[in-house]
Amino acid sequence: MSAVLREPAERIEPMRPEDLAEVLAIEQAAYEFPWTHGNFIDSLRAGHSTWTMRDTSEGLIAYAVVMIALDEAHLLNLTVAPSCQRFGFGWRMLEAMAENARSYGARSMLLEVRPTNVAAQKMYERYGFVRIGTRRGYYPARDGREDAVVMRVSL
Ligand SMILES: CC(C)(COP(=O)(O)OP(=O)(O)OC[C@H]1O[C@@H](n2cnc3c(N)ncnc32)[C@H](O)[C@@H]1OP(=O)(O)O)[C@@H](O)C(=O)NCCC(=O)NCCS
Repeated sequence: MSAVLREPAERIEPMRPEDLAEVLAIEQAAYEFPWTHGNFIDSLRAGHSTWTMRDTSEGLIAYAVVMIALDEAHLLNLTVAPSCQRFGFGWRMLEAMAENARSYGARSMLLEVRPTNVAAQKMYERYGFVRIGTRRGYYPARDGREDAVVMRVSL
């Protein structure tokens, strides 16, 4: 994998184990049901495409985890720090993840998103993702489980 996907304003670089304390702090601030340290470690060990975006002062803005299997990429996590949301970073990270997946031969990208997560769905729809189905009870929720909307885009 290339060392830096985008520079100089924001740098997108491979996620390292040393990043995980900062990643987890954002993860816990961004989600009611966050990924655990173990989930990120598993992703790193599995060799998934895992990236961070940092600003010029090295602050962590965003991160993403993508599983690329043959010609399909699966976006497993894309998160922008709450204080950095709505500045276009999520969009840039999504573009970079799609570009990187394409360079590894992926021809489509798939993801799950909560039906209640309107902001994320708007971003994915704007990018060209379309709903292709529902996964029943995919997510933990306060009152049990929540379905996932499954979305896909051709790369
Ligand atoms: C979803 C998320 C990644 C978007 O990142 P972001 O940097 O805030 O989004 P951007 O500023 O790049 O916006 C890109 C587009 O997404 C849509 N969008 C983003 N936030 C939105 C909001 N709060 N309401 C409506 N649309 C929104 C818009 O279409 C926007 O384009 P526009 O600004 O030209 O209207 C970010 O809100 C986030 O990390 N949320 C918490 C974690 C999460 O839900 N991740 C996705 C899990 S599937």
